[in-house]
Amino acid sequence: MQTIAVDLGLSSYPIHIGTGWDGILISECARININKALIVADTNTGPLYGRMVQDLIASGDIAARLVSVPAGEGAKNLDTVAGLYAAALESGLDRESAFIALGGGVTGDLTGFAASTYMRGVKFIQMPTTLLAQVDSSVGGKTGVDFAGMKNIVGTFYQPASVIINTDTLKTLPERQVLSGLAEIIKYGIIADESFLKFLEANINSIVALDSQALVHAIGRSCSIKAEIVSKDERDQGIRAVLNFGHTVGHAIEALGGMSAYTHGEAVAIGMVAEANIALLLGLIDSSLADRIRDLLRRAGLPVRLPDFSNESLVRLMQHDKKTTGSRFVFALPKGPGQACIYKDVKPEIISVALDMARQA
Ligand SMILES: NC(=O)c1ccc[n+]([C@@H]2O[C@H](COP(=O)([O-])OP(=O)(O)OC[C@H]3O[C@@H](n4cnc5c(N)ncnc54)[C@H](O)[C@@H]3O)[C@@H](O)[C@H]2O)c1
Ligand SMILES: [Zn+2]
Repeated sequence: MQTIAVDLGLSSYPIHIGTGWDGILISECARININKALIVADTNTGPLYGRMVQDLIASGDIAARLVSVPAGEGAKNLDTVAGLYAAALESGLDRESAFIALGGGVTGDLTGFAASTYMRGVKFIQMPTTLLAQVDSSVGGKTGVDFAGMKNIVGTFYQPASVIINTDTLKTLPERQVLSGLAEIIKYGIIADESFLKFLEANINSIVALDSQALVHAIGRSCSIKAEIVSKDERDQGIRAVLNFGHTVGHAIEALGGMSAYTHGEAVAIGMVAEANIALLLGLIDSSLADRIRDLLRRAGLPVRLPDFSNESLVRLMQHDKKTTGSRFVFALPKGPGQACIYKDVKPEIISVALDMARQA
């Protein structure tokens, strides 16, 4: 078991990473001092893990109700949140009670939003069960739902009281979803920590094979990198933007794939290759780092070649990206192994050449 402290003053909390949930879940419920719990799972994680978690919490003499929301992004809306408020009221949850998210990023985001608004905020515990949720969405305190066709357009900043990660849950996760989270892990090595990048290069096969020791280290380091960046910029107004490496091109690929052809991590993997080319063309990095990035992603089993979307359609979508102002393109780019910067004035011609290069990857 590894524990990482997220340092946010009064809102500080621990992230526990290990195999199994048994002891740690009971001791965290006691430490946080909750009287009742609403466990929110989805229709995949509920049948797999709901009963186990409910029984564990009940063994600490805490009444716990389990509800399952439909699996998938389609359920990340205000109607689902309203259902959670109704279940919480029915079960008599008050400000000493906890909402517990047991699932991926969708479950975590909508349960966190419900927890932050029910009775103006109740206790919140994250039990993320996808690799993406374990290394990304459960850390940083962003909650939210989709509204009027826009992703995450309604939400809050709300820190959990505890994050409890059981790497055993990844054994039931479809491999494509595992790889989607792995793209974010590789991103952390590239932007923030060369020794972690080297660890990933040496251990990528063990991680893909879900070796617990390698996973606990990779998830722990990823959480501490994200936590460190977030603690410098809790409200996402500056340095936190380096976390967007690979995402400006990645979001455009996701959109052109109709939000279904590529997982988020697959799109970000290709996006990192394309954006590393931008860094190369700007003289921020040399070709050996661009090659290292592409090779590691490829060895992980992630796609690295840009599909046949036109440069025009990709650039048009990037213009709508929230990081772009006017005709200047803002990118989070590597500037050396384990180092990143925000580059505020990338010309469209450079982007086009970088995209052409990524089609040859
Ligand atoms: N809050 C943040 O900072 C933040 C950051 C990144 C992403 N997100 C959000 O996260 C969401 C994506 O998260 P995700 O990729 O985890 O998607 P998800 O929650 O939809 O989970 C993916 C699929 O895996 C299933 N699943 C989950 N755990 C499982 C397990 N252990 N075994 C078998 N199946 C399992 C789910 O039911 C679902 O079908 C998006 O809505 C995105 O906006 C939020
Ligand atoms: Zn991402």
